[in-house]
Amino acid sequence: MKSVILALPGNEQLAAGLAAKLQTEVGRMTVRRFPDGESYVRIETPVDGRNIVLACGLHDPDTMILALLFAASTARELGAARVGLVAPYLAYMRQDKRFNEGESITSVHFAKLISRYVDWLVTVDPHLHRRTSLDDIYSVPSIVVHAAPLLAQWIRAHVDSPVLIGPDSESEQWVSEVARGANAPWLVLEKIRRGDRDVSVSIPDLGALRGRTPVLVDDIISTARTMIAASRHLAGHGIAQPVCVGVHAVFAGDAHAELLAAGAGRVVTANTIPHSSNAIDVSGPLAEAMRNLLAMRPAVPASESAP
Ligand code: R5P
Repeated sequence: MKSVILALPGNEQLAAGLAAKLQTEVGRMTVRRFPDGESYVRIETPVDGRNIVLACGLHDPDTMILALLFAASTARELGAARVGLVAPYLAYMRQDKRFNEGESITSVHFAKLISRYVDWLVTVDPHLHRRTSLDDIYSVPSIVVHAAPLLAQWIRAHVDSPVLIGPDSESEQWVSEVARGANAPWLVLEKIRRGDRDVSVSIPDLGALRGRTPVLVDDIISTARTMIAASRHLAGHGIAQPVCVGVHAVFAGDAHAELLAAGAGRVVTANTIPHSSNAIDVSGPLAEAMRNLLAMRPAVPASESAP
């Protein structure tokens, strides 16, 4: 059965790249805002009986979510066999615990919402901090693409004598994997975050950096306070400007410019969120993950299975 990829606004390039890799069609869908701010969605390509893939990065989730849910439920109403979601950046993964009384654990609520509207999900390195798997909160099948091998490949090709630096102890497993692939030594920072934009770090073993190029590696660069604090810490000890490598270029507000101004030598990200720093292409493994999920047989509801 031929599948159809439908792009939510801003995801046209992602959809075209995936369609080319999967030799499938990009369908026509109009999504726009009415003057009062409500969303208008119209799927123009016939979807009856077809596998539909919605391409929708979720880096601006509150702006995008309603149009995405309307598109998914409309595709189902129009007869789509299955509706999958490719979201290279998956939002609402960081509030995974009630840190203060009364707080909403939004990662769980968001996962429940998405799981009601789509049949499967593909994403890249979701921020699994206190969870071990997306399956803990998403009830639909998912495939997580790991960017670590691609980051390692980029570092091997572009950085002389690198030493990798992870943001905090939780990143140890991930940074060590990138370091193995890049054939480089690594260490992790001691990080204290007091607020959204109040971060301090110290580097336990500055001696390990002498004569090498520091490469700060993180899954998300959001306010960039983590990388800014690390860059300043290095500069304060007379160590070379770091190369900053991130998977998801969230870059809230002026974070990218602030990071460059703080002494980052070069800032490079994967193209999970469109940004001028994108230099690492994840579309190959994303397409591969989609191929696997598109080939999967839909689960037979218990009521329809043989006795
Ligand atoms: C935290 O656990 C993440 O791995 C990143 O270190 C964090 O999201 C970076 O945020 P920011 O850029 O706001 O310092």
